Amino acid sequence: MPYNGLITLEQFIVDQQSLYKDAGGSLSKIFRSLELAAKMVNRDVRKAGLVDILGNQGSINVQGEEQKKLDVIANDIFLQTLSRSGEVSVIISEENDDPYFVPGCENEKYIVAIDPLDGSSNIDVNASIGTIFSIYRRPNAQKDPTLEDCLQKGKHQVAAGYFIYGSSTMLVYTTGVGVNGFTLDDNIQEFCLSHPNIEIPEEGKVYSVNEGNSDTFPVAYQRYLAYCKEKDKASHRPYSARYIGSLIADFHRNLLKGGVFLYPPTQSAPNGKLRLMYECNPMAFLVEQAGGSAHSGSERILQVAPTELHQRVPVIMGSKNMVNKVLEFIAETSLQDA
Ligand code: AHG
Ligand code: MN
Ligand code: MN
Repeated sequence: MPYNGLITLEQFIVDQQSLYKDAGGSLSKIFRSLELAAKMVNRDVRKAGLVDILGNQGSINVQGEEQKKLDVIANDIFLQTLSRSGEVSVIISEENDDPYFVPGCENEKYIVAIDPLDGSSNIDVNASIGTIFSIYRRPNAQKDPTLEDCLQKGKHQVAAGYFIYGSSTMLVYTTGVGVNGFTLDDNIQEFCLSHPNIEIPEEGKVYSVNEGNSDTFPVAYQRYLAYCKEKDKASHRPYSARYIGSLIADFHRNLLKGGVFLYPPTQSAPNGKLRLMYECNPMAFLVEQAGGSAHSGSERILQVAPTELHQRVPVIMGSKNMVNKVLEFIAETSLQDA
């Protein structure tokens, strides 16, 4: 009987287990919980227009942002399934002010940071949205979990990834041994390996930024945007501007095709808008594992020392050469200002 070559996420995790030192299978159980939760959120996203789950929940989260109903539904689903895995001690969520210490799991060794639904503003207009996750080990699982356990630099992540609920539903993740992509086969409800060993091109022709804020960007970023628009055939400029407003969708396109995503400091958001723990760190881990880079403008994202759970950080991430070009403008400008 010829085997059709389909590799499911389950089989892939078992094959990879030895690579990422998950002897006890705890990390694999966490992945299974994430996979189950994503299938449930995917089900709700796909029927969002049909049942009353679109629109605003009527509550405000710690970010001061209007919570969409699907934000809250997705948050509940991920918190419940991760708690039931029995392997997670603490869950950090964009939708929860404080860390969620999982009852009965005080001595488990994993922490999961999650953006349950990224791109909420796009829910009602049927544009791609997703879930972002980041996994750490606790420094000392013998002691009860604390907030300090959660505030680890991104370079200590043991795994990170995202689910994208787009024209197809995909999982893209890393455990520190490269980046792999899986596409959900709706007929068998299995995530199947579809993008093995993803590598981001060193160059790209796309820049992603909300130019509506550009008047208050630092000068270096404004100079970079002007550079993107200059005519220069050899370097494929002017670049194309692509900005969906869902980090997950902009990041995924740039990961596969090449490009740079920027969320610079603005007057209203001097540290940018994106959150370090469950947006920038996981994406930085992924993009570096795929051969790209991620920078705050002053340091490598994965080196940023967190001080608060929901802290924001400016971000420049994507194709290595494009990120370096932005950093060149930042360096030149700071020399001129000196
Ligand atoms: P979330 O929906 O989880 O709050 O994230 C939204 C983020 C990110 O997905 C996107 O890149 C960014 O907000 C867009 O911000 P602007 O609308 O300010 O450009
Ligand atoms: Mn988000
Ligand atoms: Mn979100």
